[in-house]
Amino acid sequence: MRWTLDDIPWDRFDPAKVTPDLLAVAKTAALVEANSADYVAYLNNIFHDDDDFKAVACQWGVEEEQHGRALGRWAELADPDFSFHKSLAEFRRGYRLPLDANQSVRGSRLGELIARCVVETGTSSFYSAIHDACDEPVLKMIAKHIATDEFFHYQLFEKHAKRYETKDKLSRLSRLKIALGRVREAEDDELAYAYYSANVAFAKTPEKYDRGRCAATYWRQAMGLYREKHLQNATRMILRAASLNADGWLAAVASKVSWTLLQRRQNRLSRAA
Ligand SMILES: [Fe+2]
Ligand SMILES: [Fe+2]
Repeated sequence: MRWTLDDIPWDRFDPAKVTPDLLAVAKTAALVEANSADYVAYLNNIFHDDDDFKAVACQWGVEEEQHGRALGRWAELADPDFSFHKSLAEFRRGYRLPLDANQSVRGSRLGELIARCVVETGTSSFYSAIHDACDEPVLKMIAKHIATDEFFHYQLFEKHAKRYETKDKLSRLSRLKIALGRVREAEDDELAYAYYSANVAFAKTPEKYDRGRCAATYWRQAMGLYREKHLQNATRMILRAASLNADGWLAAVASKVSWTLLQRRQNRLSRAA
C-alpha cells in the first residue's frame, strides 16, 4: 500500500472550499471505486491459471476499495446528509457487474488487459483533473494519492499485457478497437446509476432514475474539471495501450480532437442545463 486513510490530514478539511460539482463527482466516484473491487472475482475467473496475475489483481482490488472509502469519508465530511454505506447499497442493488464470465468480454486476455489500461487511463486523468481543480486541501490530497495509484495500475496492467502479447496476437487495429470500445463504455449505465445513487436517490426531494438526465448532469460536472493537459496525457496513454506511437503526429491530432470534442460537449450540456 502506498498510502492509507491515516495519511490523510482530515482535520484540515475546509468546508468553505467545497463546490457542488466537486461534491457530486466525488460522491459518484466513491461508489464506482468501492464497487470496482468486485471486479477481482471476474479477473480471477478470466486468469484462473495465472497465479502471478491473480495476486496482482487481488492487491489492485484492495487499493480500489480504499479509493472508495477515502472519497466516501470525504463526502460524508462535506455533506453530513450523505451516507456512503446507504448510497453504495443502492448502487449495488441497481447496477451489477457481469462477474461470472469465464472468458474475457474483450475476446482474449490481452484484450482484457488493454481494456483495463483504458479504465486506469480514465481514472488517472480524472483524479489529476480533480487535484488541479480543487482548492479543498483534504480532497486535493486524496485525489493526488489516488491519481498516483491509478497510474501505477495502468503500468501494472500494461506489464501483464506485454506478457500476453506473444500468446494472444492482436493487430494494432484490433488493439485500438478494444481501447476505443472501452472508452465508449464510459457512457454506459455505471456512472449514471452511481450518480443517481449518490446524489438523487436519497436527496430531500428524491426523483425516479432517469439515465439520460443523470448521465448529462454527471458529465457536465465532471468535464468542467478537465484541462487540455489532462486530455493530452489520457490520449497518449490510450495510444500506448494500443501499441501506437504516443508521441508522434497521431497523438497530437488525437489529443486536439478529443479536447475540442470535450469542450463542445461540456458547452452543450451547460446550455441544456
Ligand atoms: Fe481507483
Ligand atoms: Fe485503478
